[in-house]
Amino acid sequence: MLTVLDKHERDAVAVVPAGVHEFFASGAGDEVTLAESAAAWARYRLRPRVLRDVGEVDLGTTLLGTGLTHPIGIAPVGYLGLVHPDGEVAVAGAARDHGALLIGSTRAAMPLEDIGAAAGPWWFQAYVMRNRDLTARLVERAAAAGARALVLTGDTPFVGIKRRVGASRIAIPDETYLVNLARHLTGTAGRADAEQDPTATLDAIGWLHGIGGLPVLVKGVLRGDDARACLDAGAAGVVVSNHGGRQLDRSVPSAQALVEVVDAVGGTAPVLVDGGIRSGIDALVALALGASAVLVGRPVVWGLATGGQAGVAEALSALRDDLAHVMALAGASSLADLDRSLVV
Ligand SMILES: Cc1cc2nc3c(=O)[nH]c(=O)nc-3n(C[C@H](O)[C@H](O)[C@H](O)COP(=O)(O)O)c2cc1C
Repeated sequence: MLTVLDKHERDAVAVVPAGVHEFFASGAGDEVTLAESAAAWARYRLRPRVLRDVGEVDLGTTLLGTGLTHPIGIAPVGYLGLVHPDGEVAVAGAARDHGALLIGSTRAAMPLEDIGAAAGPWWFQAYVMRNRDLTARLVERAAAAGARALVLTGDTPFVGIKRRVGASRIAIPDETYLVNLARHLTGTAGRADAEQDPTATLDAIGWLHGIGGLPVLVKGVLRGDDARACLDAGAAGVVVSNHGGRQLDRSVPSAQALVEVVDAVGGTAPVLVDGGIRSGIDALVALALGASAVLVGRPVVWGLATGGQAGVAEALSALRDDLAHVMALAGASSLADLDRSLVV
């Protein structure tokens, strides 16, 4: 039987132009990492507990002081206006209604003020762009629009080459690419200023914190020593991620990197994880291995494409209900009951 997420993914093919669909679905290089991301979660097996009171399962959690009704958040995904006219605002509304965390992308196709107005708890994903001033303006705006943290994406010094879409590469129009940036560009400044700065270092963490005063998490961490280096440089948390298989192909799946990062962080800061999470069991495994929360990217894209805000809400509900169900079957009535002994 197809899950809600499977149906959205299947139906999206019919409603989104082929080139756009391929852009969202694809990964970098030979797509080895993309192919392994979901399979890596499926390799874990569970060791459920019996005869625990699971009449009520509480999925509530707190991240950096923000209360959330469940630990399934929305990963930053750019250009959502390409799959549905309601774009990021629809995604923000669905997250708000769910009490779920939204991470809005720098590459959003709608003004971040509109996203902030529609969102409940939300964080802003930042890049260090070649034009630092542009980065600073954007971070200030995100803070003013209510973002409670910054997520600095660290795995994208250059955009990974997606071989599958090489020939049919869609041109992202300026109206989509520069929605949040154009007003800050003056004179000869243009798209190149908005590209990621490949010379950025760990110093960017403190710099970004200094601009908006917001806690900074680093996204794209796949190694324990890197997680520690980020925390030592002032990060408030990390997101274990390989960018949905879109950056360095043959990077380890997040499911494989998570334990090393959780152990290196040692409970001193939140560790989020994304990549290939498609079911309650995937989320359960991640949380049991020590993740503070999980994020989903493409399931939100396909939900948005097929049903707008209602489609995103449907995808989030399906994941939330599935997580509550499998937690009960595993003998866990709250996230505090999830630990590594549940997983082998
Ligand atoms: C089309 C697309 C665009 C993305 N854009 C961004 C982005 O702007 N910033 C970012 O940090 N990550 C971006 N990501 C990566 C996601 O945040 C996330 O790491 C990934 O999609 C999670 O994997 P999943 O799609 O398997 O759930 C993007 C992913 C996709 C598929």
